[in-house]
Amino acid sequence: MTERLSSGQPRLDAILNGGLPTNAINMVIGAPGSGKTILTEQYIFRNATVERPALYLATVSEPFDKIIRYAQNLEFFDANAIGTRVIYEDLGQALRDQGLSGVLSRVDALIKEHHPGLVVIDSFKALHAFAADQGEFRRFLHDLAGRLTALAASSFWVGEYDAADSSEAPEFAVADAIIALGTTRVSERQTRILQIRKLRGSGFAAGEHAYRISAAGLDVFPRLADPIEASDYALGTKRQSTGVEALDTLLADGYWPGSTTLVCGPSGVGKTLLGLHFIFQGAKAGQPGVIATLQENRIQLSRIVDGFGWSLDQPGVHLMARSPVDVYIDE
Ligand SMILES: Nc1ncnc2c1ncn2[C@@H]1O[C@H](COP(=O)(O)OP(=O)(O)O)[C@@H](O)[C@H]1O
Ligand SMILES: [Mg+2]
Repeated sequence: MTERLSSGQPRLDAILNGGLPTNAINMVIGAPGSGKTILTEQYIFRNATVERPALYLATVSEPFDKIIRYAQNLEFFDANAIGTRVIYEDLGQALRDQGLSGVLSRVDALIKEHHPGLVVIDSFKALHAFAADQGEFRRFLHDLAGRLTALAASSFWVGEYDAADSSEAPEFAVADAIIALGTTRVSERQTRILQIRKLRGSGFAAGEHAYRISAAGLDVFPRLADPIEASDYALGTKRQSTGVEALDTLLADGYWPGSTTLVCGPSGVGKTLLGLHFIFQGAKAGQPGVIATLQENRIQLSRIVDGFGWSLDQPGVHLMARSPVDVYIDE
């Protein structure tokens, strides 16, 4: 089995079939503000060691004092790592003075000095502007990839590439893995989505996976598709009480286990109440239940619940209240 590089986020690692391949060239692409830098930092702060540090190389677009200033707000940021496990260097000067060959000599010197296990170039796309033509860029890519492979380092090439770039830019052919960050529109709402475009030598969970960014980094919610484990389970034959005696009688002793019942009707007829009867009857019988509400919050629901002599704090009663405005369905 190939070794894998963990993001520290089990759901993202699972999408990648265990993680990114080590000693590989990984690209992280997407629009500005999509979280490319944050994701990359997630990987390096988790995996860099003093023996094999991370070398974070900023090109023209990302001055490194600014990168550090923003990274400080992230939970996984470790100030003690800077200069020991995580080394930030600026390639801007070398680029401006000597172009791509300047980058190669600078990378050589830094590799010799630090012997890094992880190498980041952010933004990689910005390097294109310094090549006289496609031929020069391809030679540069070849030389750089050769050095990184010899070093047995895991690399991250970060850039604001769009859909058109991915068919033309030669680095996409060189990369072993490509993570694309973007957004999609679901009715009136923008949702951040992560897609794996390529993962050499491994399967991965295809499709658009929603993610959120917080101080903890990227949190990814794998697309709910066919369950991987399709093991058998038994449905009991004993009907479940609805919590309303007369309704149990009408339904020949209640709901079927494992079934779904739609309760519909106009506002104020008792739909929520019918659900509550079911949950609190279950709780009384030792069956834990979940109330998932996209309407009332805990306080509003408490008022109804308390009025019937129940309590949301009762054992076996779990509440998930979310605003439908901000719901990611796979989350
Ligand atoms: N603590 C945080 N909570 C929520 N969102 C955050 C937080 N820190 C940064 N972000 C979001 O992360 C994005 C910036 O991520 P970054 O990795 O710098 O993007 P990129 O490198 O792709 O331009 C911004 O859109 C910002 O809204
Ligand atoms: Mg960035």
